[in-house]
Amino acid sequence: MSSVKGKKEKKCLVSSVKGKKEKKCLVSSVKGKKEKKCLVSSVKGKKEKKCLVSSVKGGRNNEIPLSSLDTRHSPLLPLDTRHSSLLPLDTRHSSLLRLGVNIDHVATLRQVRGTAYPDLVQAARVCEAAGAGGITVHLREDRRHIQDRDVFALRKAIKTRLNLEMANNPDILSVALKVRPDEVCLVPERRQELTTEGGLDAAGQERRLRPTIGKLRDAGIEVSLFIAADPRQIEAAARLGAPVIELHTGTYCDLKGAAARRELTALCAGARLAHAMGLTVNAGHGINLENARGILEIPHLNTLNIGHSIICNAVFTGLNRAVREMLEAMRAYHGGKP
Ligand code: PXP
Repeated sequence: MSSVKGKKEKKCLVSSVKGKKEKKCLVSSVKGKKEKKCLVSSVKGKKEKKCLVSSVKGGRNNEIPLSSLDTRHSPLLPLDTRHSSLLPLDTRHSSLLRLGVNIDHVATLRQVRGTAYPDLVQAARVCEAAGAGGITVHLREDRRHIQDRDVFALRKAIKTRLNLEMANNPDILSVALKVRPDEVCLVPERRQELTTEGGLDAAGQERRLRPTIGKLRDAGIEVSLFIAADPRQIEAAARLGAPVIELHTGTYCDLKGAAARRELTALCAGARLAHAMGLTVNAGHGINLENARGILEIPHLNTLNIGHSIICNAVFTGLNRAVREMLEAMRAYHGGKP
C-alpha cells in the first residue's frame, strides 16, 4: 500500500498477529532541506508514532529505508537508533527489507593466497555505502575464511549492524562475548562441509543451546537461530527465548519447479507461524538475483542475509554495484504473501 500526496509519501504494511490487525506506515515528508520520516504503528486502534528528522542531500535519493527504522520486535517498542537509522545512508533504495551482506568470501580470496588483501573493512564499508543495512561474517571453527582479528576490526569500523554467525562452541562464544556484535546467529557446523548445510536442530539441542543463548542475551547481543521452516524448530526457538530466527532458504534455492514451490510454501507457513509467536523473521542462504523473486513471497521478513552471489557478481560489476543490484531486486518486497 503506498500513496504520494505532494511531497508526502506514505507506505503501509498490514499484517495480523494472533488475529489482531497490525498496521505499520512509513510517512516521509520533505520540507526545504529537512526530511521527516515517521513510523506510525497501530494495533487495535492504539497508535504510536516515532519520527526521525534528517537533512536532505541531493534530494529524494538520500532515503532512509523503513528497515532502518528498527521494527524488529514489537511495533510499540522504542526504536533502536544506535545504528543505521540516524546515519546518512547513501541509498536510493526504500525497501521494507534490510540486506545483510555476508562478506566471508572476501576473506576466502585473502586466505587462499595468504595475502593481506582484500581488506575486509574496506569491503564492509563499500557494502554500507551501497546501502547494506548490516554486515554478516561466519567465524568458523576451522577459520577457513574469517579470522578473529577480522571480527574485532569490523566491530570497530562498521556503522550499521554486525551479525556474527557461529556454531555453539565455547571458544567461539568467548570471542563473541568479547566482540559484542549486534547479533549472533547460531548455525550448525560440520568441518567437511563446503557451506552451512541444513538448519540448526534447536528442538533436539535445547539443553545445549539454552546456556549459550542466555550468555549472549545477558551481554546484550540479539540472538538468532538459523533453522528450517519446521514448526518444531520454530517452537523450540520461541521456548529458548531467541527473539529472531533466520529461515534456511538454501533448500528452496537449490530446487526447481514443483519441489521449489512446495519448499516455498513451507517457508511462507514457517514465517507466518514465527511472526504469530512474536519472533522476528530473517532469511538466508543461497539467495541470488534469480531466485530472489520467490524469496520475496515469504511474509514478515525483516532481513535477508546474502553472501556468495553478491561476491560472485562483484567480480564482474564491482562490490558497490552488486550490493545495489540486490537492493534493487529487494525493492519489490511488499510484505510477502498474506
Ligand atoms: N545465512 C547463514 C546462516 C549462513 O550460514 C550463510 C552462509 O554463510 C548465509 C546466510 C549466506 O549464504 P550465501 O553465501 O549462500 O548467500
